[in-house]
Order: sequence, then C-alpha cells, then structure tokens
Amino acid sequence: MASSTADSKVQPVESIEPGWNTLAPRAALKTTAETTNLNGLWKFRWLPRVADANVVPQFNEHHDELIPVPASFVMPHLDNFLKQPHGLPSYTNVKYPFAIDPPYPPDENGVGEYQREVSWATPPARAVLRFDGIEGAADVWWNDRYIGSTRGSRLPSEFDLTGLTNEKNTLTLRVYTFSAASYLEDQDEWWLPGIIRDVSVIARPVSSIDDVAIKANWIDGVASLQVEVATSGAEGSSPVRIELLETETSLQVGSVTVIPDALAWSAESPNLYTLRVTSGIGSQDGETVEVKFGFRTVEIVDSVFCVNGVPTQLRGVNRHEHHPLFGRTVPEQTVREELALMKRCNINAIRTSHYPPSTLLLDLADELGFWVIDECDLETHGFGDVGWVGNPTDDPNWESAIVDRARRMVERDKNHPCIVMWSLGNEAGVGRNLGAMAKAIKAIDSSRPIHYEGDQTCEYVDLWSMMYPPVNFVEQVGQGTEEALSDPGLEARRRKMPLVLCEYAHAMGTGPGGLSEYQEVFDKYPRLVGGFIWEWLEHGITTVENGVAKTNYGGDFGELVHDGNFVIDGLVSSDRQPRAGLLDLAAVYAPVTMRFTDDGARLELTSKLDHTDTSNLALHWEMRHEASVVKSGAIAYEPLSAREAKVIDLPEDALSALREDSGVLTVWLQTQADTWAVPSGWMVSSAQQVSSKGAQKQKSWQIEPLDASKTLTEQIDLCPETGNLLKLGGTEIKGWSLSLWRAPTDNDLRAAWREGEFPPVAERWTRMGLDRLTSRLVSIENISAHSVQVKTHVGAAATNTAVDCTWTWSLVPGGVELNLDVTPNSHWPTEWTSHWARVAIEFSIDQSPDALVDWFGQGPGPAYPDTGQSAKLGWYSATVAQLQERTVRPQESSRRAGVTSAKIGHCISASFASPVGLTVRPWSTHLVERTTHDHLLPASDSSHVVIDFACSGVGTAACGPGVLPKYRLPAQRVSGQVLFETSQPKGVSK
Ligand code: GAL
Repeated sequence: MASSTADSKVQPVESIEPGWNTLAPRAALKTTAETTNLNGLWKFRWLPRVADANVVPQFNEHHDELIPVPASFVMPHLDNFLKQPHGLPSYTNVKYPFAIDPPYPPDENGVGEYQREVSWATPPARAVLRFDGIEGAADVWWNDRYIGSTRGSRLPSEFDLTGLTNEKNTLTLRVYTFSAASYLEDQDEWWLPGIIRDVSVIARPVSSIDDVAIKANWIDGVASLQVEVATSGAEGSSPVRIELLETETSLQVGSVTVIPDALAWSAESPNLYTLRVTSGIGSQDGETVEVKFGFRTVEIVDSVFCVNGVPTQLRGVNRHEHHPLFGRTVPEQTVREELALMKRCNINAIRTSHYPPSTLLLDLADELGFWVIDECDLETHGFGDVGWVGNPTDDPNWESAIVDRARRMVERDKNHPCIVMWSLGNEAGVGRNLGAMAKAIKAIDSSRPIHYEGDQTCEYVDLWSMMYPPVNFVEQVGQGTEEALSDPGLEARRRKMPLVLCEYAHAMGTGPGGLSEYQEVFDKYPRLVGGFIWEWLEHGITTVENGVAKTNYGGDFGELVHDGNFVIDGLVSSDRQPRAGLLDLAAVYAPVTMRFTDDGARLELTSKLDHTDTSNLALHWEMRHEASVVKSGAIAYEPLSAREAKVIDLPEDALSALREDSGVLTVWLQTQADTWAVPSGWMVSSAQQVSSKGAQKQKSWQIEPLDASKTLTEQIDLCPETGNLLKLGGTEIKGWSLSLWRAPTDNDLRAAWREGEFPPVAERWTRMGLDRLTSRLVSIENISAHSVQVKTHVGAAATNTAVDCTWTWSLVPGGVELNLDVTPNSHWPTEWTSHWARVAIEFSIDQSPDALVDWFGQGPGPAYPDTGQSAKLGWYSATVAQLQERTVRPQESSRRAGVTSAKIGHCISASFASPVGLTVRPWSTHLVERTTHDHLLPASDSSHVVIDFACSGVGTAACGPGVLPKYRLPAQRVSGQVLFETSQPKGVSK
C-alpha cells in the first residue's frame, strides 16, 4: 500500500473538543441487522511518538506483528504476541504523569497503530462502525479516508460508513496514550491505552431503529410503560411495531400503557421483561431490536432513598475494569464469575468507579439483581495538586467535552433497570460544568437521582455523598445533627437529602477493619443509604520472571512518578481470588442477621431485605463437639417479610444437644433455589452458641513426679544468661522473645484521616523501637519447688520507653505453664492513643510449611479485633502454608483469633487460659516486613510462631479513619497464661 496522506486534517491531540464526526449517542441495542464483529488479531505497531499525525499509518501485507483486539496495548502479557516494544503500563493515583499544561499532552506520547481488513460478499449499503471503548484518543481511517476521532475512553463512538463500504476494506487506527482528554481521565488506576472493548460494523437497513428509550415505572403497585423510538426511513421516520413479549401487549410510541399484573424489578427480585421493536413493517428493509428492562421507580422521599416506594439500602462495592493480563479489557467469563462471587457474598450494589463499564456488566446486573451507580468518565483530581487552578470542571471551554461524556453515558445506558443513580464522575473538583452535565442528564432522563461526591454543598446533585467519613460523623448525619452549611438555601436542600458513602472501608492489604460499626449505623438510620467498599478488585499486573509469576504494582515498570501499591486495594486479587476481607464483608452484608437470646434458648432473626421475604432461605442447625457433628437438623420457620424481625424457639433436639454435652451449636440460613450465580445450599448468614457445659471438655492430666536429678531451669530448659526458653518437650525453640510489633500493614503505614497530628502507627512503633527490641535479664530465681521466675527489661536502642516482663514458669500437671506479665514503664508518649501492635511471644521451630496446625478457636480464616466477622468458633486444621493470607506486598496477616488450644506440627501443644491470637508462618516478622513482593518470600524449613495476648485492630487508615478507639492498643499492663502440654491427657494414648 502506497503511503498517502489523509483526506482531511486529524483532530489535534491538544484539541479539547469531543471526538470528531461521531454519530449521536444512543442506547446499546441488540439488533437483527447484520453485525460484523471485528474483534480478533489486528496488525499492530507501537511508536514512542508520532512525527506527523496526518499521515495515515501504513502496514504492508507482510507485517506480522499482530495484537489481539480488544486489549490494552501496553500489557506485558502481549509480549507473547508482539516482538517489538509496545509501551509499558504506568500507575498514578492523583498525580498526572505529565506536566499540568492543559490542553497539551506530553511529547513522550506512545501510540499504537492498528489495522485490519474488513470484507463482505455483499457490503452493507448503510452501516455504522462502532467502537465500544478506546482508551486514549484515536484517529480512525476507513480505506485511508479519515472518518473521525474518538475521545472518552470508556464510552462508545460510532461513525457512519454509508456509501463507504466495499467488498474489501481497510480499517486503520492510531491510538494515542495521552491527549487533551487525558486531563479528564485522571482516575486512580493504570494508564492503559488501546482498543479496550468490542469493535463492530452494524448494517443499517433503510428503515432503521436508531434508538429506543424505555420509561418503565412501578408506582403504588402499578406498572406502566412508555416507549420512545427514534427511526430513520425514507421520510425520516417509519412505522414501527412495539411489543411487550411476556404479556403480549402491543404499545404505541410515546403513550403510557399500564401493564396489569407485571412484577417489579429490584436487586432482590430482578424481574426482567423484553421489549421488541420492529421497523420496516411489510417490507424487507427494517430490523428488530430487543431490549430487556424492568419496572421500577427511584425516588427520594423525606431524605430517604426509596425504590418502588420502599426505603432501600445499598451494600455495595466499587468496581473498576481491570484484568491482570489484558488490562482494561475484562473477558466475559471473568465478569460473569466476579458478579456471581459478589452475589454469593451478599453484595447488592456496584458503583462503576470511575467510568461507565462494559455494557455486559450492566446486562448481568439487570439479570442477577444489583443496584448500580453508573459513573461518568470524568476525573481531574491532579488539578487538586495545583490548587485546582485551570480545572476543566470549572472552565467553559471544556463544557462541551464534559457534557458530551455525560450524554453518551446516559444515552447508552438509560434502559437498564439496575442503574438507580447517575454519577457525574469522581474527584473532579467543583465548577459550572457539573451543573451543565446535570442539566444535560435530566433532559434525557429525569427518573434517576444525580450523584457526585465532590459536590459537598450538593448544589448539582440529588443526594449527598461522602468518602471515608468516620463512623461517628455518619451517625450524626443519620440523626440529622450534622453541622449546617453556611448558605441557607443549600443547607435546606442538603438537609432533605439521604447520605450515601460512595467509598468507605479501604480494602488495602490486611483489613479493612471496622466494617461492622458502619453497618450498624446504616441499619439504624433510614437517612443513610449505605455504601460502597473501596474497592472490589486489586489492579495487579501479572508478569512471569524466571518462571515465577509476579504481581506488579506502581513503580515496577520504571515509572518516574507513581503511587506504589496503592493500586492493590481490593476485596479480591486481580485474578478474582477472594481476600479475607471479602468473606468478612459477606458476613457484615448478610441479608438476614441472627442472634441467640434467652441464654441460647431462642433465636432472633432480623431481615435486611427491602423488597422480598425470606422464603428462599432455609434454616438449619448443627451441634459440634471436636471435629464431629453430634446432632443436626432443619428449623421450620415462617418466612420474614421485608425488614421484619422476630424471635423463634429452637427445636427441642437442638436445645437438648446444647444442654447435654460440651460443644458449639451453629445455626445458618442457606439458599434453596439454584441459579447460575448462587447454588442452592449456599450459606448466607449464621450464628453460634456455646453449650452451657463449655465448648471443649476439660482435660485431666496424669501427675508426673519431678525429676530430682535436674534443676528447675534445666527441667524447663531456660537459658541461664537470658532467661529465654530453649527447648520444649524435646523441640528446640529459637529466638524466644517478647514482641510488641508486627510487619506493618498498609493501614499501619499511613496516617489516619483526621488524626493528622499523630504519625502513622507504624511510625510510632519504629520511633519507640518496637521493631528492634532487646531484652536484658534482670533476675532468674526459683520461687517454689515447681516454679522459676524470670524478670526481663525489654526496650530498644535510642529510646527510654520499655516494658518490664515477669515470666513465671511452673511445672504443672500436663506440662510447663507460663504466666507472663508485661508492664510498661512511664515513658510512653501520653498524647498518643495507641502505642503497640500487640503483646506477644514469638519464636521459631523447625517445621516445614507442610506441618499441620490444629486449633480450637475462630476460623477458618484470620481475624483481628476489628475484622474476622466471618470467622466462627470451631475445631480447625490447616498446614502452615494453607494458613497464609498472601498479600501482594507482604505484611502482617493470617492471625487466627480466639484460640484456646493449638497444636503446631507434632511438637508443640498448648492451651490458653484466655483466648489468644495465633499466627504461624514460614517467615520471621522482619523478613515479611522487608520483602516488597509476595513472590520474593523464600522457601523456608522453619515456622515462626506468634502467640499474642493483646492485639491492635487494623482499621482502614490506608485511606480513611484509623483503628476505632475500642480496638487500639495503648501501652498498658497485659498478662497471659500458656500451658505448654508436654505430656498426654488421661485417656489419650501416646
Ligand atoms: C478515592 C478515589 C479512589 C481511590 C481511593 C483510594 O479518593 O476516589 O479512586 O483513589 O480514594 O484508593
């Protein structure tokens, strides 16, 4: 192909206009008109910059670099397809990765040039070329003729091909990483240019259906339907047939029809109907489109968010579009699996942070039932770093580009019942263009409230939204006692608005802590709509280095400006494996909660369903003692209606099981219907009651005579110079020490919001030397024939803060008992609300990751004082390797709580007078702390054991409030008791 120049000049990258020559936005419609899907392998070339943007990219027929479309072209996984460099991902949160010099992008502006052939035996005379999403800015040529450009990465663009189609055609694109539009797309995520969504050519019959807009209401139990259809035909509009398939109702364009006996749509009862629209009646030149929709009405009534006339709570997550191999392109199977996982975890709402998702997500949300906030592709957060000077949100020159994005979102998605709010965008500051967006949205669809968190005075929005407020502030808003706005008009408006937390509980690393406290206030005050966890998904990028898979985060691709692992903050890993926080969230979001009353004789059930009853949930019980089920059965109960609470009696056999034997009774609700997302028998909620005889039988021990030939310290194997334990029943103990520290979590490393005057807790710990404690032996003395007392002073270099420890060791029936007392000295800073990570003993033993750990306590997953809502009391067994909750950046994790007995490998058995936290891992705390990526943690033959008697919560200070006061650990006296069992209990053979 000869080199040629374009027929017309391309849109300059610094142009702030919307894409050029695109067709009017419209609903995404499924049509019978011939549709040619252009996904697949395209010719590709990457260039670090372009010399002349008006020169059409040229490829000869031998060009053998092929890229899969759709995909983000910078993904390292594409090294498997592309032999040449193709750019690299780069991650920034708030910062622009280029100079703030609007409207100019930087010269270093990698481009992807794409080309493919498009052939038909009979080319469609009229056709539309559709891109569902191109990240970056693109110029498009059809047969070397410039047909326009795209802006708005996560929005569709259509071009008219009428009169341009031949049997053989060439489609060519140049996609820029950056353009003026990048100033509007500063979301916290990787910059991932490319053709990221489907590409198709849709034939347009002479009588075509260009758009369908459905208004389907559900008011006071009455369903009504109004349909508008935009057509084109010989006279500009042609007759159409409109049918509601399920009820066989024919409808007239524009008129409101009441549909008798129709069912409402809600996230709990996603009843969908099918509208069929046919054009070209009586001729061969029309098409048929079908649209799934639901009847539902969203309103704000007396500061309460209502759907179909009832207050409705959102228990949601923020969801980005990300895949560890393909970037912004998420394969259908992945989307299906992740939505099924959300459904199984009691999540009922999704905020499409921070741009309209692929329409597949909305189709599935309609089908499975999720409340959705659809968010516009707008964020200008980086202007915040320069005092918002030049922020496009407030600049009239940018109005058309910004409003264009709002229109395209609403036109595309207006028929989805799942969408209950339109969001203007995220973190784009404030300004006049928000008002223009809101106006444009209302002109298309006034049936959904408008959301935008950046507008705290609520000038442009219909409800108040916040990010990461502390729970006590949320409670004030629930009570309506929040501080007034200074403008009386705005104050009066906001006072009547519900509050939604569009982001709360930052799921970065270990945590988030404190989910239950938020849920308690959401449940208490109808003004609170609920909220959306930040965030569903970690945005790790997978590479393989020396045969080992690595999850990359910011900085791993050599970016000069980046935000490290702040992009790894999800309830699921980038390959959608649940993190511990997700299971806890599932417990907190349970649609029905249960609680024992009357000393375990009765059970209180509280439904948090807003629209349906609990007839799909069956109630069961089982009594366990040790690993075996003693008795079990079903509990018949009358289904609870929406938001009903009632107390029921337990069946007699459950009560007698609880009375007669030690053990733990568990009741749970499980689904009865099978769907592709949630199988029947899936547990949605549970509660437990310990028998009045206790959870476990008391052990009784043989009394073993003292060995008179050995001193007490020899019998207990204490080091006479340090007082440290050296051996336990033949097992060598290494590194016995007192610990007040942990490998900082992501939450520990950042200063909590509104506690800015104090350093992050991890910094407090290092300032006080908790990461480098040393012990000085003060004394060691026999205090009885069976007991020896060790006193140590534990402090750190360069500080006078310290604790005094008394370790009292006694030979007792069953083994060796340790009573530990830890008392802080008077030097701990009094202004700090928390000083320690934990009070624990730590040591290592020679046990491989395959060694089994058995415990009685909370499980199977981890728990800290403010997490672990999904953990249940029970008898558990897992290998050391299985115990690990791996995090992309290694940090404190994997602690099991409420442990009263444990066996580690075949060498250590212990029981605890009061429940302890137990952590067993293949690596020392320091090794975990200094390792940057999970795959770098080495293989190990030893197991590191941490037994804590007190522990700090984890909070969510990575972004938001820190640990709640009741879960903090200020310097204080702490004691603990451990029985290291070196003999066998009676009745147990050796
Ligand atoms: C919010 C923002 C999110 C994300 C989060 C922290 O301010 O809207 O996009 O950056 O903070 O992870």
